[in-house]
Amino acid sequence: MLRIAPSLLSADFGSLAEAVGEVAPEADWLHVDVMDGHFVPNLTIGPPVVQSLRRHSGLFFDCHLMMTNPGDFLEPFRRAGADGCTVHVEVGDTAALLAQAKALGLRAGLAINPETPYEAIDPFLDDADLILCMTVHPGFGGQRFMAEVLPKIARTRAELDRRGLGAELEVDGGIDVDSAGAVVRAGARVLVAGSAIFADDRPWEAARRLREVGEKALPGGRGSEAK
Ligand code: DX5
Ligand code: ZN
Repeated sequence: MLRIAPSLLSADFGSLAEAVGEVAPEADWLHVDVMDGHFVPNLTIGPPVVQSLRRHSGLFFDCHLMMTNPGDFLEPFRRAGADGCTVHVEVGDTAALLAQAKALGLRAGLAINPETPYEAIDPFLDDADLILCMTVHPGFGGQRFMAEVLPKIARTRAELDRRGLGAELEVDGGIDVDSAGAVVRAGARVLVAGSAIFADDRPWEAARRLREVGEKALPGGRGSEAK
């Protein structure tokens, strides 16, 4: 099964509820990018915004915490209505953070930056409910997809399957109809997309096109044998 997770980062922040409504029919999850101005050079959304959006949507809120101190915010995000929170392996304290997220009833995700080697996440695969492979440097939407991350996605998929783990494998950054096939063939099953969806006049149609391309690349999907 393939999931599409539109990223609010590329939506109009003055009309977020409306933006969510526009993608909701074609969205499986809503990806919420949380940036702290330290881990990444940008500031975005905090728990109060998540709490406000919660009143407008029943979608699964997939919160991506690009923060140096996510442990201080897991509980506030949970209380605000987050369904899943993903922390970065680069900030350390990973086992404790994943355990804390799970204890709060969150889907516990672990993200890895493009330049961080696979070995950093390997010890935590059994404890994570989701692995997020960044396919751009985090901090900004609209960047170019980094194809050099594909071997890491494939290795993560192979290792999840070898260990019989059901963790989701998500990709984030530069995902569009040109890159979706390759990441799905590498093993990704949750596609985050910001600009490819919200830059379109009809975001729901852009999300549907992404799903169609991704589904064709699934094992057994039409076109899965094509490069
Ligand atoms: C980047 C964020 C992404 C971003 C993706 O730091 O984590 O979720 O919204 O945007 P696009 O799809 O435009 O690369
Ligand atoms: Zn993200």
